[in-house]
Amino acid sequence: MSMTTVAKPAVYVTRELPGDAIERLRQAADVRVWPEELPPPRDVLLREAAVADGIVALVTDRIDTELMDAAPRLRVVSSMAVGYDNIDVAEATRRAILVTNTSGILTDTTADFAFALLMAAARRVVEADRYTRQGRWKTWGPQILLGQDIHGACLGIVGLGAIGLEVAKRARGFGMRILYHDHRRRPREERRYDLIHTELDQLLREADFVSLHVPLTNETRHLIGERELSLMKPTAILVNTARGPVVDQRALYRFLKERRIAAAALDVTEVEPIPMDDPLLTLDNVIIAPHIGSASVVTRTRMASVAADNLLAALRGEEPPNCVNRQALRPWRRKWRPAAGS
Ligand code: DGY
Repeated sequence: MSMTTVAKPAVYVTRELPGDAIERLRQAADVRVWPEELPPPRDVLLREAAVADGIVALVTDRIDTELMDAAPRLRVVSSMAVGYDNIDVAEATRRAILVTNTSGILTDTTADFAFALLMAAARRVVEADRYTRQGRWKTWGPQILLGQDIHGACLGIVGLGAIGLEVAKRARGFGMRILYHDHRRRPREERRYDLIHTELDQLLREADFVSLHVPLTNETRHLIGERELSLMKPTAILVNTARGPVVDQRALYRFLKERRIAAAALDVTEVEPIPMDDPLLTLDNVIIAPHIGSASVVTRTRMASVAADNLLAALRGEEPPNCVNRQALRPWRRKWRPAAGS
């Protein structure tokens, strides 16, 4: 009787992950992990992709035509993120490669952080901390570090997806008036959470806080530019936990410097990490966090676990729970199923 050994599929993971995600992947696949803090250099990624059946990628990894050309066996890209603007999904679909994300996992954590940034910018928390550490706290002063009230203010939410809606729920606890702009009306949510749908321009004119929650697409690139910033109140605060290129950062710099808007709080920047000579870093009225919206222990561990689940399902030839290009499923089944497990 002849015994045939079945080769395990090959999986490349572009960083060490929290929790037991990698251990679980190892039970079903030959797993190689990029061990360093910074992303794998492009040539390494291409080399690893060349022999991979599946890749677990992060927002820092560009999964494009060049990579797919180099990866003839690739059948699934499992991204440990909800946004997938770093992945050419259309190209993956054409090649019957499944793309998955971790939608639903980081909604609350990111909404918490958007609200944390909003509050920190409104009440100048980061500036206040610097003030203390610089030894400038000499007394209680009636005019020191005055900020904006959050309770009772008007919040404008641009993009009422899952995260935008969670931000709205948090804002209700602060008695805020809530406007939203989205190409899709959400009548049930409007009634349930007292949300007012407006055009973007009206939202920008009326809101004391503008919080961005749109994905990065061709339509949303520089959605907030010179014209839009000029509509905002001089006391308004812009919060961006979505994607950096949604805001024209050069225009934002000018508006912040000239105090034509009061402040901004960014978790994302046009180039990440933000170059240390970026003029935004010279301003006091901007907070810049290093893209940590989803960075809680529980959420990042769950994101890693869901990224592993998605990848493992695809390797078994099953539809992954969070497939973002379901239209690729049928050709994917035709192309890869016979190979699944072989
Ligand atoms: C995402 O998931 O898209 C975030 O930007 C990374 O947590």
